[in-house]
Amino acid sequence: MAKSMTFLIVTTLLALALAPLCFSHKTDGGYLYPHYYERSCPKALEIVKSVVAKAVAKEARMAASLIRVHFHDCFVKGCDGSILLDNSSTIISEKGSNPNRNSARGFNVVDDIKTALEKECPHTVSCADILAIAARDSSVLTGGPSWEVLLGRRDSRSASLSGSNNNIPAPNNTFPTILTKFKLKGLDIVDLVTLSGSHTIGKSRCTSFRQRLYNQSGNGQPDFTLDQSYARQLRKGCPQSGGDQNLFPLDFVTPTKFDNNYFKNLLASKGLLNSDQVLVTKSERSMELVKKYAENTELFFQQFPKSMIKMGNITPLTGSKGEIRKNCRKVNS
Ligand code: HEM
Ligand SMILES: *[C@@H]1O[C@H](CO)[C@@H](O)[C@H](O)[C@H]1NC(C)=O
Ligand SMILES: *[C@@H]1O[C@H](CO)[C@@H](O)[C@H](O)[C@H]1NC(C)=O
Ligand SMILES: *[C@@H]1O[C@H](CO)[C@@H](O)[C@H](O)[C@H]1NC(C)=O
Repeated sequence: MAKSMTFLIVTTLLALALAPLCFSHKTDGGYLYPHYYERSCPKALEIVKSVVAKAVAKEARMAASLIRVHFHDCFVKGCDGSILLDNSSTIISEKGSNPNRNSARGFNVVDDIKTALEKECPHTVSCADILAIAARDSSVLTGGPSWEVLLGRRDSRSASLSGSNNNIPAPNNTFPTILTKFKLKGLDIVDLVTLSGSHTIGKSRCTSFRQRLYNQSGNGQPDFTLDQSYARQLRKGCPQSGGDQNLFPLDFVTPTKFDNNYFKNLLASKGLLNSDQVLVTKSERSMELVKKYAENTELFFQQFPKSMIKMGNITPLTGSKGEIRKNCRKVNS
């Protein structure tokens, strides 16, 4: 009697102790999958695509801006929509960080997508997932590859200004620093070269590459790894002082087409940012990959989805962590 009682108590306690493990495995599995909204919001993908398509038709650059926002979201506390939060009494917005200030954009389009989704299926699709889907759609709309987006991310209730300043590579970071920042997020040199291929579309401000034009290493000399006739041309629109916000295509050959011209430009010493050009000047392995992509669009288009999915998998909030924001700009009250 006493023995079976003890057995009962022990097994009950054991079951109670293990229960959270079982449940957490179900609810906090931590993995994402493509059909996450199939039942709860079957039209989600269609809705995102239609709003993105409208925005890109109005302004081609928006495709680039949306891909970049997903990147800047994922590198800070994972893909959790933290970049979308505005300043408030509890939030110091990542929008004010060095990489984002005066250059991250597309937030109104994200609002439009969220509004359309809230109308169709309230409180269901996360802002973090919206960014992942919009990035894929932006690739497709500009002629790039498509892929099945993994879904089920939830939204953070906080932002990290310091994370945004420190984790996202700067255009004048050295190659080892950039690679280290990718490795800290579980991405490798192949992901670095492949994802940098996003610079086949979109624009950069003068302030992000001026150093290369006038005073690359503090000796009053330009960056000689930059084609000097291209540099001369750039100096016309990017003076030594002033004109910080003047815009230049990252790929001057086909600025709104997602193709492999970015890699061809690098081989011609016509990468716009220092962080672009170092991919061929500072690492043999990286340079080999740039060559392959410049020769073979297919190869680039095969790897790009893989690296985007890998980036999209950076520490998402799943299960009961975080929340589904009603407004991407603020946490739910
Ligand atoms: C490897 C390190 C990277 C550095 C240092 C870097 C830096 C930059 C800079 C400085 C700009 C221009 C910002 C401005 O001056 O307004 C830019 C634009 C852009 N970046 Fe990157 N980037 C990197 C990687 C990536 C990755 C991984 C992606 C996407 C997966 C990406 C996507 C873009 C896009 C699409 C634009 C154009 C945005 C627009 O036109 O609104 N970049 N990047
Ligand atoms: C948020 O507020 C801080 C000061 O509290 C300010 O420095 C920063 O520029 C603001 N960010 C934005 C994006 O307005
Ligand atoms: C990189 O650019 C930043 C911002 O313009 C500047 O403060 C910093 O000195 C530069 N770093 C190097 C190593 O040139
Ligand atoms: C170049 O940069 C160095 C170090 O930042 C500075 O001392 C020097 O005055 C600059 N030269 C020119 C021509 O701007």
